Amino acid sequence: MAKKKFYITTPIYYPSAKPHLGHAYCSTLSDIIARSKRMRGFDVFFLTGLDEHGEKIEENAAAKGVTPQEFVDSVAVTFLNLWKLLRISNDDFIRTTQARHVETVQKIFHAFVENEDVYLGSYEGWYCVHEESYWTETQVGENHVCPECGRPVEKKQEEAYFFACSKYVDSLLEYYDGHPDFITPAGRKTEMVNNFIKPGLNDLCVTRTSFDWGVPVKERPGHVVYVWLDALTNYISALGYLQEDHSLFDKFWSDDTEIVHVVGADITRFHTIYWPMFLEALGLRKPDRVFVHGLLMMKDEKMSKSKGNVVYVEPLIERYGVDAVRYYMAREIAFGMDGSFTPEQFVERTNNDLANDFGNLLNRTLGMLGKYYGGVVSKRYEDELDDLDRALLKEAKNTVSLYEEYFDDLKVTEAIAAAMDLVAKANKYIQDKAPWALAKDESKEHSLSNAMNVLCSVIYLAGMLLSPVLVDKSPALFDQLGIPAEKRTYQDAVGLTSLEGTKTNKGEPLFPRLDAKAETEYIAALMASPKEKAAA
Ligand code: MSP
Repeated sequence: MAKKKFYITTPIYYPSAKPHLGHAYCSTLSDIIARSKRMRGFDVFFLTGLDEHGEKIEENAAAKGVTPQEFVDSVAVTFLNLWKLLRISNDDFIRTTQARHVETVQKIFHAFVENEDVYLGSYEGWYCVHEESYWTETQVGENHVCPECGRPVEKKQEEAYFFACSKYVDSLLEYYDGHPDFITPAGRKTEMVNNFIKPGLNDLCVTRTSFDWGVPVKERPGHVVYVWLDALTNYISALGYLQEDHSLFDKFWSDDTEIVHVVGADITRFHTIYWPMFLEALGLRKPDRVFVHGLLMMKDEKMSKSKGNVVYVEPLIERYGVDAVRYYMAREIAFGMDGSFTPEQFVERTNNDLANDFGNLLNRTLGMLGKYYGGVVSKRYEDELDDLDRALLKEAKNTVSLYEEYFDDLKVTEAIAAAMDLVAKANKYIQDKAPWALAKDESKEHSLSNAMNVLCSVIYLAGMLLSPVLVDKSPALFDQLGIPAEKRTYQDAVGLTSLEGTKTNKGEPLFPRLDAKAETEYIAALMASPKEKAAA
């Protein structure tokens, strides 16, 4: 039985440049989970935010001739604007430069020092002065050159604090064993154990002296807290951990809350190895799940600003609406697997699933209801339901159980596919029932009445199940179906009760069909790299 309190987080993103489809993917899928849980009556807290410290941010700011704070403030606006456009329903937005966070990190660091979880040592590695970065023996190779800029590197030592991972490895492995779902998909766990834990986990360097833009270590001026220790603690600082008002922390970092971190595959190690260790050192419970989603590739490479192969989301939303973009991400790129964005698939999904299957189901049903019953939902004669009616209602009930099971297991793509499968079955039902034929035969009036009635209930349900994704069009669907505001609840829709007497309002198609060729070209042009654009 799923716990009734639910805490879900996205990674806090680096505001080193404006957000792209990769960031949007993670936030949207997390948002869909949060909305689906809220809809079902869970007490949800959904957190996202920004990871604003570190050397890269300091460098980017310097390159622009502004202070790091000015720099992150300006990039933060681009994230906030995109989340608003994408209708991300987060309950808080944490920024690691906020006082509430900085103070908590300092208190945590202090507790680590007191308990000897961190100790002062020295960090040694191959250092590139130009890149201001340490590299490992393997990275610099036999010639001892910087893998980034090719300049010679030098052996360098700096004083640093280390987190004593050795103290916690055993209990981490025990936690993995006792919580088989902690790392999902399961393949990611094997990767962590074989690649990082088995070969021997070094103590983690948790402070830096080579740059300033970070949380200052009070115990040792000149040191700043390493960006990952700083960043991971956002998940508890945002709830008020070690702060005056810690009511949210007490409520949501508790044993009776399901705690889920959604992260990209690039940061699994930090969330599944170091984070549980930090929590153990603080005497706090560990999350239930770290859900690792795949990375979006572009032209066979991970999408990233530095590679110039980025897809931005704003122009897609502007042209196709927020629902088409959200739907594409949820349905096309299987949650937990690597995926890629292609214009062809985007247009196909929008046309096949949204315009043809879903939009048409509503349109055809309301069209027939208008013709046969003046747009008012017809009566359901319960004891005259035939096999087709019963089969569809049964399918609808099964879909609800499947949908809930999938969502509880964070299988977003499967849950949405199940809802769309019901839509397909309802379309098939129209074909099989052929209401137009029933309408021609007076003796079949009850059968026609049942058909229109059952269809309306099933569409109401499908609209509800898709509402965490289709945030814009599901209210429009409920408007057309004539569902009054107080009845737009999950409990109501899954009951599949008769909507008899409801006055519907047939309107514009929810999703107009796209001209496949023209729109594929349009999106391809948006995605072209600056070089390709120049050539064109
Ligand atoms: N700041 C750290 C996270 C700290 S969490 C305590 C960070 N930030 S990031 O902005 O570089 O990436 C954060 C997340 O954005 C990734 O884990 C992933 O969820 C998402 N994505 C960034 N690029 C992506 C793709 N190309 N594809 C899919 N998701 C991507 O790491």
